[in-house]
Amino acid sequence: MNFLTLFAIYVAVVLMCMILVCRYSGHQDNPFNILFSCIAKVFAPVTPKWLQRFSQWSMHRLFHQRNNMFVYLHILLEAAVYGEFTYEIFGFCRELDTSLTSLSVPYILLAIKTFFFYLCIKKDPGTVTKKNVSSQLHIYPYDKRLFHPGISCPTCQLIKPARSKHCRVCNRCVQRFDHHCIWVNNCIGAHNTRYFLLYLLSLCAMAGDIALLTTDMLLHAVLRTGLLGASYMDEYGQRHPAGPLFVVQHLFLTFPRIVFMLGFLVFVFFLLAGYALFHFFLALVNQTSNEWFKNQGYTCQHCHPSLTANHLCSTPPSHSRRFYYSRGLLQNLGEIFFPRQPVWKKDT
Ligand SMILES: *[C@@H]1O[C@H](CO)[C@@H](O)[C@H](O)[C@H]1NC(C)=O
Ligand SMILES: [Zn+2]
Ligand SMILES: [Zn+2]
Repeated sequence: MNFLTLFAIYVAVVLMCMILVCRYSGHQDNPFNILFSCIAKVFAPVTPKWLQRFSQWSMHRLFHQRNNMFVYLHILLEAAVYGEFTYEIFGFCRELDTSLTSLSVPYILLAIKTFFFYLCIKKDPGTVTKKNVSSQLHIYPYDKRLFHPGISCPTCQLIKPARSKHCRVCNRCVQRFDHHCIWVNNCIGAHNTRYFLLYLLSLCAMAGDIALLTTDMLLHAVLRTGLLGASYMDEYGQRHPAGPLFVVQHLFLTFPRIVFMLGFLVFVFFLLAGYALFHFFLALVNQTSNEWFKNQGYTCQHCHPSLTANHLCSTPPSHSRRFYYSRGLLQNLGEIFFPRQPVWKKDT
């Protein structure tokens, strides 16, 4: 296989992962789950029972129970990228007279990101408990579409406040539930959405900044070799100018680790930037991803169980009903950074 084929496969795989992850993030029936269950079914007759049980158990442990696996994976990837950056790129950039200030930006971003990452992990997302459920009930009104009054959580045995949801992984009801994030091993809810947004933002900045510095370094390396103006002789003795493909091939062969890392960073950057934009959009319209996905696949199973199949819900919701909790852009943002506190109301 020649270099071009390998490179094309590399780009195609990266692009495909990007599209798949963007398309299916947050869905229950994502291709990975489907693929896994298909493989499990096909190999079921030939795999021993204990192996089947073990793989089911480990999938369950990984995705349906709280565990720190993805937190460790996150730290590992980060260590790899920063190790590579410090070990190879930092020195090279110093030689090129890149200022120390711009080279220290990634480390400052790392410190900021770690701070928000820690807060995301440690902060309580807003667990609804027996003690505070009665005050939580008054924070948001019920929109009588996605959230109906008087329904209690079968597991927690508490009345569900509007916008709350039971997290199956953490086994608790969470106020203004957004989603359960496996990367921080915590739910994202009323009290830590702000940290989550800032965490996403700093992670994007980190990946983007290192990618820029690395690109700069590679560009300098190419300019230094004078490869852009070079030419090569083919087997018939004719001269051809070395095109961009030649440059890419040269870089791949000279700095394999760096080019691979750059590909990974660009991939992560676009993925995270898309995800962060989505979450900022949701913050601006005061919607949780839980509500967003419920609105997408709008079916009656989300509605009050006593309602029959052909009620109001068979038509798509109007704009004002869909963004029921929106109070204007600034106030929506304010609500993220200063979560609403319970106001004691007199029962009428
Ligand atoms: C309810 O009380 C628990 C325990 O004190 C606390 O951790 C949680 O954050 C409170 N929930 C809300 C939504 O304030
Ligand atoms: Zn619950
Ligand atoms: Zn959770």
